[in-house]
Amino acid sequence: MRILLDNFTKKFGDLTVIDQMNLEIRDGEMLALLGGSGCGKSTTLFSICGIHKINGGRILFGDRDVTNTTSQERKVGVVFQSFALYPHMTVEKNIGFPLKLRKDSRAEIARKVAEIAEMVHITELLQRRPGELSGGQQQRVALARALIRRPDVLLLDEPLANLDAALRLEMRSEIRRIQRETGITAVLVTHDQVEAMSMADRIAIMDAGKILQVAEPREMYENPVSDYVAGFLGSPPISFLKGKIEGGDFVEASTGTKIPVAARVAASHAGQAVRIGVRPEHFQPGGKAPIAGRVSFIEVQGRETLYDVSLPDGTVLRSIQGGDQQARIGDEVTWGINADRILVFDEQGWKI
Ligand SMILES: Nc1ncnc2c1ncn2[C@@H]1O[C@H](COP(=O)(O)OP(=O)(O)OP(=O)(O)O)[C@@H](O)[C@H]1O
Ligand SMILES: [Mg+2]
Repeated sequence: MRILLDNFTKKFGDLTVIDQMNLEIRDGEMLALLGGSGCGKSTTLFSICGIHKINGGRILFGDRDVTNTTSQERKVGVVFQSFALYPHMTVEKNIGFPLKLRKDSRAEIARKVAEIAEMVHITELLQRRPGELSGGQQQRVALARALIRRPDVLLLDEPLANLDAALRLEMRSEIRRIQRETGITAVLVTHDQVEAMSMADRIAIMDAGKILQVAEPREMYENPVSDYVAGFLGSPPISFLKGKIEGGDFVEASTGTKIPVAARVAASHAGQAVRIGVRPEHFQPGGKAPIAGRVSFIEVQGRETLYDVSLPDGTVLRSIQGGDQQARIGDEVTWGINADRILVFDEQGWKI
């Protein structure tokens, strides 16, 4: 089911949280709504769901305008961060509850619960109560309950936030598997870029109630529209260097290091102050455009090691490298930036 947010506005009193948002969620895709705390992700989700009444624009499910319909009329399944299971009911009753509300027969409920329980791998847990389940198991129950009415749309609000690291990893691929198997259109709200990158077909990144960019994960990583988007995606994060464009090069402010830029950028921004973004995988020993600095921090991450290299003015360039440790804290190093992969941003932060 395709969902269209058409010039959608949501206010709480005088506070405009979402201002004329336009967003299409394609039929069968999982779209991640990614952004920092308070940017309006849950507000958007609750508006799609019908929990919030919107103040302007329209919401379409397929060709149907659902703007003024209730949650029940929209056929959506929702999973909240807190799971919100009924503690006194067994897993079986929790999952079957939406069907009981709609007065399905007992036999029908039992059949559907068994079917969905098998899909989310909780058949053996049906007689337990939520208090007797792990976080990941509770999450599966919440998913099963959201899916039991075969909704057109699955809405997930930070579904993994309450799980520990190992379970998060497991549930990431499980939610994705279930979404793929059912072919359901899904919106995943998250502030975790790794979650968005690894789970979603496309990411819509938000800041202060606005969508900044909608793109496939790799496209957004490699071609962000702004420094904000570039900084939000990637771990360890991208580094930014200040400087200006002079005669075909970016000239770094504190060292005078020259890094060639695309002819297009050199022509359009000659003489202007800009910033470049360098991803840690593009700053390496032996790289093309050498720049000197002092190693100020090292973090061994197992397979890879992260190095912070400080330039004279305190700007930090990050490098991530596999293999044996290449340097110690305090070492002076001259490593190279892969000039082909730098991102150049204008003074307003837009990618050039
Ligand atoms: N019911 C409400 N009444 C008044 N203001 C609200 C209400 N719900 C949300 N807000 C405000 O709207 C803004 C967006 O909130 P929202 O919950 O959508 O953010 P979010 O992106 O989901 O953040 P988080 O990642 O912290 O969950 C915030 O400034 C919040 O204070
Ligand atoms: Mg939220």
